[in-house]
Amino acid sequence: MDQDAMKKAAAEAALSYVENGMVVGVGTGSTANHFIDLLAGIKARIDGTVASSEASAQRLRDHGIPVLDLNATGQLQLYVDGADEATRQMHLVKGGGGALTREKVVAGASDRFVCIADDSKLVNYLGRFPLPLEVIPMARSFVGRELVKRGGKPVLREGFTTDNGNLILDVHNLDILDPVKMETELNMIPGVVTVGIFAARPADVLILSGENGVQTLN
Ligand code: 5RP
Repeated sequence: MDQDAMKKAAAEAALSYVENGMVVGVGTGSTANHFIDLLAGIKARIDGTVASSEASAQRLRDHGIPVLDLNATGQLQLYVDGADEATRQMHLVKGGGGALTREKVVAGASDRFVCIADDSKLVNYLGRFPLPLEVIPMARSFVGRELVKRGGKPVLREGFTTDNGNLILDVHNLDILDPVKMETELNMIPGVVTVGIFAARPADVLILSGENGVQTLN
């Protein structure tokens, strides 16, 4: 099975968490795209979705699936999204697609966060994947210097603007041994909008797909 087929298998497994009448939080990326395409097959059963990016909102609408405003829906029961890295403790690195801020908002506003991924994303420690940080444009250099002081190597994601009009710094070389602590500390640097560590609000369920099938960690 190739990696894309594994992503699809994980997305298929997440469908079983969708209940009738739900408003479903929907993530961003190639794995989430599989989930969106599969959700289209059961769209009559749900009340709508909340999207974590403009790209996902467009894909949902293309399928005729209603996209609602989180301000109007209130708390969601379910959020389904991919990840760039995941540990067995359900801590994640996200933001490879640059949608980390809205992803963190929707995850925070959801009772259950189901993370879907191929098993190449499973790691013992976070940090191999460069950590995405969304920063406001005028703070780019300042935040960069602060990250260097902490041992990181920030690289500006060239030619990329987030849905919120901000920039992404991809930070190499960080040892994320205490994910909650690092998420909290980096969040406190002025100008940082969102840190791509999802540990203070981890996933609740991790669906991993590999050569030997799909496994679910709770
Ligand atoms: C987007 C994300 C994605 O969930 C993450 O990058 C994984 O993407 P993919 O499913 O394409 O591997 O955080 O901001």
